[in-house]
Amino acid sequence: MVLVWASVCLIWRPHIKIGVFLMKTATILAAFVAVAALASPALAEDAAPAGDAVKGIDVFKKCMACHDAVGDKNKVGPNLAGVVGRTAGTLESFAAKYSQPMKDAGAGGLVWDEANIAEYLKDPKVKIPGNKMAFAGLKKDDEIANVIAYLKADPKPTKP
Ligand code: HEC
Repeated sequence: MVLVWASVCLIWRPHIKIGVFLMKTATILAAFVAVAALASPALAEDAAPAGDAVKGIDVFKKCMACHDAVGDKNKVGPNLAGVVGRTAGTLESFAAKYSQPMKDAGAGGLVWDEANIAEYLKDPKVKIPGNKMAFAGLKKDDEIANVIAYLKADPKPTKP
């Protein structure tokens, strides 16, 4: 780029001023592009991380002792197929087994949207005091996002 301009300028001296002007403009534009490129990953980090359903397969192994997420079978915990968007404590086939606090949460309007599931999985005992899910919680936000993506996926992904 610089070499090209240098040779053009040597041959075409009257236009040096225009050349300098164009190069300055190009530098300013390049600076803008660089700033935008640096700024965008920072912005992306502020937004909720997008989950990866395939990575969620491994996270869901921590839930499988108590939950199925396909079919309609319940284990110690309710079946989680279609849980995203479901009102808490309302899976009919599990009705007799939900704790009272879980049923009360649903009656009070708690719907398992992504934000509420994320809070519940982070600390089940804090989100719904007295509920009977004996699970310490997931500490990492990316694990939570990935398992939610897995729960949402229909059909469920398999490992590539
Ligand atoms: C030790 C068993 C156990 C483990 C492990 C477990 N859960 Fe649960 N889970 C339960 C039980 C029991 C309930 C019902 C709680 C109640 O009624 O108070 C429940 C309830 C839930 C609910 C609410 C469902 C509804 O119908 O309202 C969600 C969502 C949930 N679990 C997700 C998960 C996820 C995701 C994992 C893994 C990261 C997990 N659980 C791990 C036992 C478990």
